[in-house]
Amino acid sequence: MLDAIGGTESFRARLEVVHGELRADLPGIRRVAVAIYDPQTDLLQTFLHSTDGPAPFTLYSVRLADVPSLAELAATGEARVLDDLEALRASPARHSRLLIERGYRSSYTLPFHDRGALAGFLFFDSDRPGYFEPAVLRHLAVYAQLVALLVVHALEPVRLLRSAVDVAREMSRLRDQETGAHLDRMARFARLIAREVAGREGRDDEFVEFVHRFAPLHDVGKIGIPDRVLLKAGPLDAEELATMRGHVERGVRLVDSLAAAFGLAHSPHLEILRNIVACHHERVDGSGYPRGLAGSAIPLEARVVAVADAFDALTSTRPYKRAWSNDEAFAHLEELAGRRYDAECLRALAVHRAEVEAIQHRFREGADELAPFHEAYAEPV
Ligand SMILES: [Fe+2]
Ligand SMILES: [Fe+2]
Repeated sequence: MLDAIGGTESFRARLEVVHGELRADLPGIRRVAVAIYDPQTDLLQTFLHSTDGPAPFTLYSVRLADVPSLAELAATGEARVLDDLEALRASPARHSRLLIERGYRSSYTLPFHDRGALAGFLFFDSDRPGYFEPAVLRHLAVYAQLVALLVVHALEPVRLLRSAVDVAREMSRLRDQETGAHLDRMARFARLIAREVAGREGRDDEFVEFVHRFAPLHDVGKIGIPDRVLLKAGPLDAEELATMRGHVERGVRLVDSLAAAFGLAHSPHLEILRNIVACHHERVDGSGYPRGLAGSAIPLEARVVAVADAFDALTSTRPYKRAWSNDEAFAHLEELAGRRYDAECLRALAVHRAEVEAIQHRFREGADELAPFHEAYAEPV
């Protein structure tokens, strides 16, 4: 059964294996689900599920602070058994009502941790009231550990890769060009957009989470661009522009060697990272680089990241430009919808104005963080 946590299958497929084993012993468990937690935004997101029948909800996120019952489990570290979900019928929370509507009658919920910090919650649901008796819970404890391990294990190489790249950024002048706050914001914008558009293109919660985690690596190929080009004041000449644009191919090569070094080479999600790095300067009308891909030939993850990155570049202060207001940035991007940027991705960001502003507020630029940087472009090159 431990094989379930290795291999190249999607994490959801691995969870289904674990659920299959679990069902043999505890047939009353009809659903196993995992939500993961982003402490910086307090957002809890659907991530994995294995469900007999239709999933009650996917591509869903909620602030932990808005679900006091879970916030309490997070604070105490305790598990919770609900013997009769009917009691939740009057709950204002959409997810509680959905569970009841889909026929679930009892549940077992527990928080799980990674390096001492809350990493998410595990949910086991049954269609029988009062299913989670002490004998069942004793048996379930092993599986709960295994599922938590599966999730932490799934995300570990990604975390390591990100910290390796962070160190490399800190050591290069790339940090002068893109602040950490820019990467934090654009990654959350990318998650917001991805959550909205994923369903339309048949992608799931795993896709959303990995787009979020990989988005900040889009310009990894800029590490190592000579400072005279990277930091040049004023417009770049043709040769310098070619060097700058070379960050895309350079990035793809870097991703491949980093993936091998960090044990991601067989990860089911490596393709998302490669596509983000390789295609984030493609334009939907085919006028982008390096390949001139158009429309849906550009992977969805790259279309998402292009919008997230451009929006944040426009609304950020740079030495050569003031920060545009959100209205100005949306108006400008809207003009380019369907030409440079994917119109659906733009709309996905625009309709979540309150969340956009919350992200901007949460990841404000530290005044001291903004080192001088000269580049005659309002949008990413
Ligand atoms: Fe780029
Ligand atoms: Fe960027």
